Amino acid sequence: MAISIAVASGKGGVGKTSMSVNLGLTFAQMKKRTTLLDADFGMANAHILLGVKPDFFISDALKGTVSITQTLCAGPAGLNFVSGGSGLIDMLNLDKKTRYQTIRLFDEIADNTDILVADVPAGASDSSLAFVAAADKVLIVLVGEPTSFLDAYSLIKAANIDAGLTNFSVVVNMTQSEAQSKAHFEKFKSIALRFLDVRLDYVGHLPLSTRVRQSIVSRKPISIDAKESRENACFQKIAKNILTSPNNETGGIRFFDQQIVRNKRVS
Ligand SMILES: Nc1ncnc2c1ncn2[C@@H]1O[C@H](COP(=O)(O)OP(=O)(O)OP(=O)(O)O)[C@@H](O)[C@H]1O
Ligand SMILES: [Mg+2]
Repeated sequence: MAISIAVASGKGGVGKTSMSVNLGLTFAQMKKRTTLLDADFGMANAHILLGVKPDFFISDALKGTVSITQTLCAGPAGLNFVSGGSGLIDMLNLDKKTRYQTIRLFDEIADNTDILVADVPAGASDSSLAFVAAADKVLIVLVGEPTSFLDAYSLIKAANIDAGLTNFSVVVNMTQSEAQSKAHFEKFKSIALRFLDVRLDYVGHLPLSTRVRQSIVSRKPISIDAKESRENACFQKIAKNILTSPNNETGGIRFFDQQIVRNKRVS
């Protein structure tokens, strides 16, 4: 059964795309049939990190000119990639119906997919929340700054109150050590749990490192090009932990909704 993971943060520039790309590649190397969705419509940039050039975008599949399978392009390690495109103004503020259609597009690949990773845009817009709410697992990327804490808190609160999500995995990025990451997590958790009835699981960290920045400049993802690095060890640990973290089971619009997938197969 295919599972979906939304990578989100609230605050921008905290490492969602770096995390999504490397986790996608890590799952692919674990022989999981993985698709990475760059859901950052309008500002899509995951293809640059991956070093691929998509011919088609989600908007093409929504228009019906191509199927979602045709939008997939092959990345390293067998990772499939689908882009939100850039500068697609009409995709920036998707209305409710289009958000639903976007999520349902992926039913077509349910049988050929083990894991869908969605790189969700910063902020708590309706589109960001729709992708978060539609995923089985939510990975919150946090950095040790008050603004990151505040924006992550706002996103979790909205996802909890508006969509009923209760389980969130947290990765702490750009720290000096694992101990520092855990300390940031504990602080964030103690603040969040004061006001929200949710479960937060620490799933790992990524150190502040020039290798991460350089991997983007050189377009050579760490999980492919620096397999022995401490950063790649972090991605492997996060990938393993997120797979065992609890799923959200809300009644709303979800990726790979099994009942809908089954009905589509019959019709
Ligand atoms: N662990 C790290 N060490 C050093 N630099 C990092 C690390 N993680 C991310 N960066 C850098 O931070 C910048 C933002 O990263 P990234 O694009 O992955 O963030 P994002 O959350 O996707 O941003 P946006 O909200 O704009 O989509 C990039 O220049 C990236 O190289
Ligand atoms: Mg990004």
